[in-house]
This record gives sequence, structure tokens and C-alpha cells, in this order.
Amino acid sequence: MRITAFLVSAAVTAVGCSSTSTPETGGAGGSNAAAITSVTFPKGFLWGSATAGFQVEKGLADTDWGAWAKIDGKIKGGDRPDDGPDAFAHVAGDLGLMKDAGLGAYRFSLELARIYPTRAAFDADDPSADGLAAYDDLMAKLRAASIVPLVTLHHFVWPTWMSDPADPKQPQGYERADAADVMTAWCARMGKRYGKDVDWWVTLNEPTVEASIGYLAGLWPPGVSDVERLVSVMKKQVELHARCYDALHAADTVDADGDGKAALVSIAKHNRVYEPADPTSEDDLAATEHSRRFWNQWFLDAIVKGDVDDNFDDAIGPGDRVGDAALKGRADYLGINYYGVSRIAANALRFPHMGVQPSQFNLQDGRPRNDLGWSIAPEGFGAVLDEVAPYGLPIVVTENGIADGTGANRSRYLLEHAFELGKAIGRGANVIGYFHWSLVDNFEWASGFCPRFGLYHVDMASPAKTRTATPTVAVLKELATTGTLAKATVDALPAYAAPTSPCASF
Ligand code: BGC
Repeated sequence: MRITAFLVSAAVTAVGCSSTSTPETGGAGGSNAAAITSVTFPKGFLWGSATAGFQVEKGLADTDWGAWAKIDGKIKGGDRPDDGPDAFAHVAGDLGLMKDAGLGAYRFSLELARIYPTRAAFDADDPSADGLAAYDDLMAKLRAASIVPLVTLHHFVWPTWMSDPADPKQPQGYERADAADVMTAWCARMGKRYGKDVDWWVTLNEPTVEASIGYLAGLWPPGVSDVERLVSVMKKQVELHARCYDALHAADTVDADGDGKAALVSIAKHNRVYEPADPTSEDDLAATEHSRRFWNQWFLDAIVKGDVDDNFDDAIGPGDRVGDAALKGRADYLGINYYGVSRIAANALRFPHMGVQPSQFNLQDGRPRNDLGWSIAPEGFGAVLDEVAPYGLPIVVTENGIADGTGANRSRYLLEHAFELGKAIGRGANVIGYFHWSLVDNFEWASGFCPRFGLYHVDMASPAKTRTATPTVAVLKELATTGTLAKATVDALPAYAAPTSPCASF
């Protein structure tokens, strides 16, 4: 698959509008707009699934998450990451599962701790032969299967030599003086080794999520609750990303698919819809707008425009960085993860900078929910895509999915979101790919194995880690193969069932 082909095709299709409508029904897109009855995805659209190393591999005990998981009470049910789907033992089989689902792309992460288990190994650039062999094998099999890799270089997890939950008072991860140097070298080395296989890179997965849960909620490593450390980490993340972006472009000079572009680099940004708890309250509305800027916009403005709202007052003014050449232009596309909505009440817990703590669990908003108590809000997907479209970059949906233990709700979730995606493309959002989270059930961080996000159910108790297709596999295959979706197909699916296997969140 040639990247320029689908970049161009996506742009042209967006102009030509990929949706069809019947004028008589009205409704979509405004009171006078015609209802959209079907959507068509651009030629060459990338359909994929996503995983992350720590969530599907095993043998990553020497990491902050490995250490965290050993602390009583940190992981729901005391689940152990090594009891997961064991991805390395199933590479060929899992690639077959992707094909069975009609997918042509796979997002996964390379783990720093697997390649450099110790600081000494990293400093000497003495990578683990076993670690490299595992990733070499995955890359070779992806190539043989003509599956496009999209590779994340940091998905929440640090080796213990960079972040140690045993010592949270000391600077950890991004806070360490050498964090940017370490990550820049990591990006350069991986770009050099795997540039022949990979054109699509993500430096950081959901940096704002990692920072806020690790440094404010304190529910992930390093287990800190300190808003000043949170904002310091966020500023370090944008700088680290920019340096990693430059390092990847310098190191990955091989155009893996021969389309003229050797590296396309971004982050995977978790963006949500922020809603006021009380839409008639001016305080709630103001807090909601502040939250939207803080969570959705702050990071993207920094790496696309070089504008950093350093004092978090929602305006670029004196003292803020404007068009910072060290940050600006460090995204070749926007990776966007979408899961849903958060509610904002101005009188909720207040923090400097970020203002209020958003709430996303068990909202009283009348929407159906997933097993984690998150509201299902497909219309918000369109809003999030519309919000980032004006950056003018191609967009890849790097994650979207549902915790659904019975598999009863996933197909409706997928098709409702795909329909909103198609409509957003019709409105002009240059979305060129969609990666469903996740290929297989996996280790859902502090929630352990309870939430089931997989297109394929994994029997974690079975020695073979048996994979079983959920009904959504056939639905996704039809979507990815035809590239079209009729509203009638979405509407024909059963209504959402109430979750029967709820998983308490953190
Ligand atoms: C993360 C994944 C996670 C998924 C579902 C995203 O925030 O990138 O690692 O499993 O959401 O919670």
C-alpha cells in the first residue's frame, strides 16, 4: 500500500464528500441538512487494530508498570501482566486474525525495557539479542503479510532504570534530567533499525493521560499527586516529542513502501468531548471550555504551531511561547484516540492550571455505558474529529474501542463510530485510517484483565491463550472490505444491552 496514494485520495474524497443523503428526511448536520444514509471511506483507507507491548507481551517485569503491578491493591483483582495474551507466542496466528478481520494495518509498541533491560546496556548501546529478535520476527511477518505497521515508541511504560515507583519523591520518567536524551537516542536507534519496515511512527501514546493519572490521580506509576509536577511533565513531554520527531526523521531515511516518504511521525492524542454538568451554569460552561483546552488542545498547539500556553490561562500571551521553532511543525499527521465524554462541574475539586477534575465514570447522562462505566457517545467522535481537522494535517484514528465482556455491544459501537467517522470525512476531516482498540483482550492497566476490549476474546486461563472471534470480526471485515456503511446497517443492530460484566475502574 502506497502512502501518497491514500493521502491524496483522502484529500480528494474529503472535498468530493464521501457521504450520500436523502433530502427528504433532514436532520444530520443541522436542522436543514439532509439525513445521511450512507458513508463511503476513501480509497486506500487504512483499517487496522492496535495493541501495546506491556498489555499483550509478557516478561516486562523490570519496568515501572511491572513493579507497580506487584504492589498490593494497585491492579484490580491482583491480576498479573504476565498472565495476558502472550503476543510473542502468537505472532503468526494473530496476523492471521487480523487478515480474518479484513485489516491491513497493525499498531503496536516497541518496548525500551525489552531492548535495553539495564541502564548499562542502554549506555553501551548493547541491545538484547532476544528482544531484537522478537521484534525483527514481528516486522518480517508483517511485511510478508502486507500488513502496514504503525509503531509506538512509548506506550506508558518506562524501564525501572528510568522510573521507579519505589521512589516517587525523586524525579521519575519524563522528569529525569536525561529523559529527553534517552528517548531521543531510543527513537534514533529504532528509526535506524526499523525504518526499512516502518513509515508510521508514534512517539508518545496519550501523553496527557499518562501525566495526569501518574502525577495527579496517582493511580499509575509513579503514583504521585502533585499538580506542579504534572504540568512540568507535560512541558517536558512536548520537548521530548519534538526531539524524538527530529531524531526519527534523521534516522529513518528508508521509504518502506516506496511512496517517497520515509517517516511520518506523530503522537497518539487522547481527545474527548467535555460537557458541562449543568449547561445553564456559566461557571460550568467556562470550566468546560478550560478543560477542553487543557486536555484536547494544549499539546497539539504546542507540537503543531509551537504555541505553548505555559501558564495555562487559555490564551497565548506574555511569557508564553509563540511559534517556538524547537516545537513547531513536529507532526506529520495527527494520531487521535477517542473513547468518549467527560462532564465538568466548576464546583468539583479544583486544581491550579487544569481547573477541575473531569468525571467520566457512570455519568448520569442517559447514555448507554461500557463495562468500565464510560458513556458511549459516537456523536462525540465526530465532534473530536471536527475539532482537530483545522490543524490541516491528515488524521489517523489510532485507537477507538469498547470494554464489552459479552461481545453483545461491540458491533453497534464499531458501526456507530464508523458512521460518525464517515460523516466527519464528508465534512472535510482528512481522516486516512482507523485502528480499533484492540486486536485481542489484554491487560487494561489498573483495571487488570476485567475489561475486555478485544475483537478476539482471549481465554487467559487456558495455557494456549485461546483466541475466539467476537461477532464484531465479521462486521469489521465487511466494513473494511467494502469501505461503505449504510445507516440502515447500523440501525439494524440490536440496541445496547446493559453491561453484564461491569469492571470497577481505578
Ligand atoms: C490506551 C490503551 C488502553 C485503552 C483503553 C487508551 O487510553 O492507550 O492502552 O488500553 O485506552 O482504556
